[in-house]
Amino acid sequence: MTMADDNRTINVNGETATFGIIGNPVHHSLSPEMHNAAFHALGLNNIYVPLPTTNLRDGIAGIRALGFRGASVTIPYKEDILPLVDHVDPVAARIGAVNTLVIKQQADGRSPAISGYNTDWIGANRALAEKLELKGSRVLIIGAGGAARAIGFGLKEAGAEVMVTNRTVAKGERLAGRLDCRFYRLEELGRLKADALINATSVGMTPKPENTPVPKEFLHNFAAVMDIVYAPVATRLLREAAASGCRVVDGLAMLLYQGAAQFELWTGRPAPIGVMRDILAKRLKTIQ
Ligand code: ATR
Repeated sequence: MTMADDNRTINVNGETATFGIIGNPVHHSLSPEMHNAAFHALGLNNIYVPLPTTNLRDGIAGIRALGFRGASVTIPYKEDILPLVDHVDPVAARIGAVNTLVIKQQADGRSPAISGYNTDWIGANRALAEKLELKGSRVLIIGAGGAARAIGFGLKEAGAEVMVTNRTVAKGERLAGRLDCRFYRLEELGRLKADALINATSVGMTPKPENTPVPKEFLHNFAAVMDIVYAPVATRLLREAAASGCRVVDGLAMLLYQGAAQFELWTGRPAPIGVMRDILAKRLKTIQ
């Protein structure tokens, strides 16, 4: 079978290795296009497909039995997946969420072994590290959901000092407790200074791109500002941060690098970053 997309062609044959994305829903995901373009760029006989499921346990049994080599895991299963895999990477275990599965075929007909990793924190660190030395930096995270948790643990891994602020105080204090760091109320934002500020909430995302989590008069207190929102890529927060003289890191970078880390776990090869970035930029332009 041959599938033509723009000017590239993917050949699928009896030896093609399969990868996919497990979640519900998955039809909005940019990962299939990003990973297929990357496989193609390196001439790998791999294919990546959407795997929508309403039953995670059955879905995992399916990919285990059907010879899949790896998978992404997305909403709403990043936490539920932990007890269903054979091995969880220590950082993913601390975060309490897995977004990447590596499936190793076993000798002598034993069931394949599934390892779970979290590349969200790797993507966030790599994106921010392009603009800031992470070790020893002070970083303020806005938000206390799954994204904030992955980013917080990841920054601690890199030797940064983390602080948390969040709209719902109890939730923010809980995350700060887990990260063993300080919590600040949102009303205190104006008097906080740090090397970086990260928006780990959905504030500013389409369909409300006019919103921002931080008033622009506070932005000069941060050398770098990063946003996990990638639709639009140029969020109001990042536009105002750039105007205030901050270095900015957009959500496309985190999305790209978490995917690149997945690619590297699956293939053992450096990810073709330029190819992956081009696909994301092209697709994100059409959804803003
Ligand atoms: P995710 O797993 O993607 O991080 P989540 O668990 O729903 O998503 O967390 C969303 C985060 O965005 C939370 O910190 C949430 O704040 P609350 O804990 O107060 O709910 C934050 N958030 C979402 N909408 C917000 C808004 N309009 N203003 C401020 N914070 C908001």
